[in-house]
Amino acid sequence: MNLTTKFNIILIIAFSIGLTIGGFFSYQLTQDNALQQVTDQAELIMQEALAIRSYTVNEIRPLLNNNDDGLFHPQTVPAYAATQTSNLVREKRADYIYKEAVFNPTNPRNKANPREEKIINNFIANPNLLKQIGNIKVKGQKSLYISYPIKISNPDCLVCHSTPEKAPEAMRAIYGDEGGFGWTLNEIVGTQMVVVPYQLTAELAQKTFYSFLAALALLFLFLFIVLNITIRKLILKPVTIMTSMADNLSKGNIAGNEIEISGKDEIADLSRSFNRMRRSVIKIIQILRKTQANTKR
Ligand code: HEC
Repeated sequence: MNLTTKFNIILIIAFSIGLTIGGFFSYQLTQDNALQQVTDQAELIMQEALAIRSYTVNEIRPLLNNNDDGLFHPQTVPAYAATQTSNLVREKRADYIYKEAVFNPTNPRNKANPREEKIINNFIANPNLLKQIGNIKVKGQKSLYISYPIKISNPDCLVCHSTPEKAPEAMRAIYGDEGGFGWTLNEIVGTQMVVVPYQLTAELAQKTFYSFLAALALLFLFLFIVLNITIRKLILKPVTIMTSMADNLSKGNIAGNEIEISGKDEIADLSRSFNRMRRSVIKIIQILRKTQANTKR
């Protein structure tokens, strides 16, 4: 195997290892970034929903409850305000979902579907669990959900959610006596869910990764070519010349020229030594030939 082949094999092995390790870490990094980005988005939507809930309780409810019109205004219910607002957002962005899903809802639109039931049951089974994050498909699109448990930790909630008799008459007139009752203090009744699309961000991360990999491969290819040219010019070519010179001399052939030397590197030093050795060998050969000629006479 000649030097070029050996050298290239080593280069290819080193590049493959570099590419694999670089690729692995950059893949992890791009995927982690994408997940972080989407998680942040979901957290933000969750915080917005919580803000709407607080706003409703602190600013809307006191206003509407003080007007003594004898009507029940769902607008004073935080769950209603948050869900209505997010439904308005969904008119523009159907892939974003906010839902307060419960087993036994006051408003049937809040009924937990089988997937949400599973999440709620998981919160019930693990009371210390504060959050669940996972992947789901929404209309075939990869999405991410974040869910918090809905726990009845405030006794005031039970005015409207324990028994129909305790609930305001006007509320029962709208919602009936079926759903949203029978909840107890400290019970986990449902989950607050935010679903955000993940598909596009994941695809973008994939693209970024492939571009990075392609750039890395191109860089390696460029280095490979440059190194090959350099090695050929700086090492292999002079070595081939020295080899043929040594070969000629060993056969007593003193024709030919000295090696042209440029630079001051190790190969130039070696070439210089070779030139000196060539001169010495030629001198010895010439002396030997003269002596031979003299003795023949
Ligand atoms: C004044 C009565 C009232 C009080 C007090 C009340 N709620 Fe409700 N709650 C409702 C009504 C009415 C709805 C249905 C709103 C709608 O149409 O979306 C509802 C809906 C909900 C929902 C959505 C699921 C469902 O049942 O439709 C959750 C979760 C909820 N309430 C939790 C609470 C919690 C927690 C508290 C205490 C902090 C509380 N509620 C206090 C009346 C009340």
